[in-house]
Amino acid sequence: MYNDVEEVLFSKEDIAKKVKELGEIISKDYKENDDLVIIGVLKGANVFMADLMREITIPVYIDFMAVSSYGYSTESSGIVRILKDLDLEIEGKHVLIIEDIIDTGLTLKYLTDNLKSRNTKSVKICTLLDKPVRRKCDLKVDYMGFEIPDKFIVGYGIDYGERYRNLPYVASLKPEVYNK
Ligand code: PRP
Ligand code: MN
Ligand code: MG
Repeated sequence: MYNDVEEVLFSKEDIAKKVKELGEIISKDYKENDDLVIIGVLKGANVFMADLMREITIPVYIDFMAVSSYGYSTESSGIVRILKDLDLEIEGKHVLIIEDIIDTGLTLKYLTDNLKSRNTKSVKICTLLDKPVRRKCDLKVDYMGFEIPDKFIVGYGIDYGERYRNLPYVASLKPEVYNK
């Protein structure tokens, strides 16, 4: 599997440092609130979420949603399916959505609209990676780790055809892997 990696873009250490910084900023920004719900978007965000929540030093509620707009395809369909909804009631609470990567933005556009309609106090976005050149809609990103070029990215939760999520770093894939 590691033979499929073209280049490591962000090492384990790069990511850990960035995640710590994000955790500190978020903890500061929300320190007056005791009703922050952080929502990890499965499956991609599960690794980032697990690390980030432990760098957040204020009390938070934790929940997950599972959505999919890609499935096994490499092109976003634009149709977002909710595979698992929240367990918690978020009405009247501050919400921070945790994502691994923003590409077209269609997943988060759908999710933020959906969560805002539940009468939340606020809905903000935190993503580890952002690929702004691919954006197909207007989206405000509140917290962002790294901006990345338009490449096939895998690892640290991010898949290609449901594989490579367990790589401990963020890497690009060799073209022969996704061209075959
Ligand atoms: C990936 C990624 C983001 C989304 C970003 O999820 O984890 O959630 O696509 O793409 P977009 O900005 O173009 O909408 P995917 O739908 O592949 O599901 P997964 O998290 O289970 O891999
Ligand atoms: Mn995802
Ligand atoms: Mg995926």
